[in-house]
Amino acid sequence: MDEKLFEKAAAALPQICFEKPPACGLILGSGWSKTLQMGNVLARLSYSDIPGLGTGTIAGHSGEMVLFERHGLRIVAFMGRRHYYEGVPLETVVLPVELMRRMGVGRLLVTNAAGGINPQFHPGSLMVLRDHINLTGITPLRGPLLPGWGPRFPDQSQLYSPELSGLLRQAGKDVGTVLVEGTYVYTTGPGFETPAEIRAYAGMGADAVGMSTVHEVVTANAIGMKIAALSCITNMAAGISGPHLSHQEVIDQTEKSAPVMSAVLDAFLKRLA
Ligand code: HPA
Repeated sequence: MDEKLFEKAAAALPQICFEKPPACGLILGSGWSKTLQMGNVLARLSYSDIPGLGTGTIAGHSGEMVLFERHGLRIVAFMGRRHYYEGVPLETVVLPVELMRRMGVGRLLVTNAAGGINPQFHPGSLMVLRDHINLTGITPLRGPLLPGWGPRFPDQSQLYSPELSGLLRQAGKDVGTVLVEGTYVYTTGPGFETPAEIRAYAGMGADAVGMSTVHEVVTANAIGMKIAALSCITNMAAGISGPHLSHQEVIDQTEKSAPVMSAVLDAFLKRLA
């Protein structure tokens, strides 16, 4: 990891970001950014103004960091993420987590879009991550141990906080929707999976598949943050439903589900307060 890049990125943030630790950090993936209800905005910065983050290349992914107040809480949101499949260094993928560490964030919610493997899911299901499988074989923790990045061999027995996951489930109930729960398998993408791969992942115990989240979560765990994660199941994975998959399908489903995604997200922040 290039610590100098982290320094440069942190130096680009307005001082107000470091004045008081946010009660929660958010990393919002495909389609989720648009659903965030913000109150009083304290600071707003385009990713292109944060060295190391740069402009995303994918439709449906915005790129802005916003510090705001909602339900009496200070929240920092990274709206849009950079993905490993874009060819950017891992520093870029996990930079939001490092910046949140420097702001003093202790609780993190990560969201994404994913393909459903569990046959009980359907497009529009919202899945709380119980655990994950990192199929990429790649970890941001490789290399010299950085200051504040925990022990050399971090425990990963319980990456997803039962307490924060419980708040997510309660937030679902608050807005009249039942959240499902499951294991997320992380592949690098950008190709969607083959039907044979999906059958193999089902056998491994995966309930959903996606191309993000895990590198951020592994880093946040090492740093000592409490973490929850929520997937919008945008399609059933390859071989389970229709004959083709496309990114357009992912975008269309997040647009259809936006009202419920927005309500759950906001109810979660309210529950934190
Ligand atoms: N596979 C991988 N990533 C995804 C999918 C999928 O089917 N849907 C949304 N993100």
